[in-house]
Amino acid sequence: MKKKVLITGVSGFLGSWLYLSIKDKFKVYGIDNFSTGNHVLFNSLNISKRNFFYADIRDNKKCENIFKKIKPDYVIHLAAQPFVSKGVEDPSETYSQNIIGTLNMLNLSSKYTSGVFLNFTTDKVYYNLNSKKPFKENDVIIGTDPYSNSKSCADNIGQIYRDFKGLKVTTFRAGNIIGGGDWGINRLIPDYYKSILKKKKLLIRQPNSTRPWQHVIFITKSINKFLTHYNRKFITDFNIGPLSKNFYTVRKIIKYLEKNSFEKPMIKYVDNNIFNEKKHLSLNSNKFYKIFRMKPNSNIERDILFTDKVYKSIIKKDKNLIKIMIKQLEEY
Ligand SMILES: NC(=O)c1ccc[n+]([C@@H]2O[C@H](COP(=O)([O-])OP(=O)(O)OC[C@H]3O[C@@H](n4cnc5c(N)ncnc54)[C@H](O)[C@@H]3O)[C@@H](O)[C@H]2O)c1
Repeated sequence: MKKKVLITGVSGFLGSWLYLSIKDKFKVYGIDNFSTGNHVLFNSLNISKRNFFYADIRDNKKCENIFKKIKPDYVIHLAAQPFVSKGVEDPSETYSQNIIGTLNMLNLSSKYTSGVFLNFTTDKVYYNLNSKKPFKENDVIIGTDPYSNSKSCADNIGQIYRDFKGLKVTTFRAGNIIGGGDWGINRLIPDYYKSILKKKKLLIRQPNSTRPWQHVIFITKSINKFLTHYNRKFITDFNIGPLSKNFYTVRKIIKYLEKNSFEKPMIKYVDNNIFNEKKHLSLNSNKFYKIFRMKPNSNIERDILFTDKVYKSIIKKDKNLIKIMIKQLEEY
């Protein structure tokens, strides 16, 4: 019998790619309240009404009924307020979604599941003093803006539930994820394609900032491996990011986009840091590579080309979006 996987935040960018990549191997259910982004990928997936639950992860009563009904084998917790800029504008909503929401999912998992819980946090959970040294899993966790800090709390709470409630919590602290179909707020690649769509000038903040960019399919493959080869060694915290040669600056990503995208927006570089973003962020993911026995198959030019194909299909409203995504999942 197929194992049951519950994805929170299933209609988001990562959730939609993940659903598509595991739906044939597992019985996949999802929870979402459509609170962020544009759900064009999700809408194209045609997920059955029996497998999707419209709910806020903070709504304890509604979520308890869902967990009781499904009794999932695995919970993949992606739902979050995931934007740095929105965190600055509305810290209390950000803390509430990311902390109360995570707490609720952990509580329900300890009551109604086998206890396997993948807590998806971020590389921004670390106390970042702009040193170029890559973060390791035991470094101090205190994010320095509301989004990052709320994810640090969610990360810590997951560890507490592992230590004191016996939940089998795995943490994935992921670097920046790129790929087609993300319409997030104040994120580089979504902003690039929004500028094409709206024929507006693209303003680039912080062109010299470095980030650990990785393609969304590396993440879906990692979660696939987590589900198919689950074992006790996974019950710990992992950084998950590219090899260090793929820590590119924003300027370099823009250069690759301009070279490969189906259209180019007008670009203006502006020198501001209104969201107080860190200049350097790098991750040491050796623990993940070793225990999961996998390494990212990164090739930034191919990753940008893949990304562009999906955005082009969405913007041109062609009917082959899902076929293109499936082909990319096979070819990556
Ligand atoms: N995209 C990245 O570069 C990146 C990098 C590191 C970590 N992450 C993490 O990955 C996860 C997914 O991010 P994403 O990029 O797919 O963002 P996204 O906004 O596309 O997806 C998040 C989804 O969660 C849902 N959601 C938010 N609050 C909810 C609530 N209270 N109840 C139910 N559903 C709710 C949203 O509607 C959305 O569909 C987040 O936890 C984020 O912090 C993302």
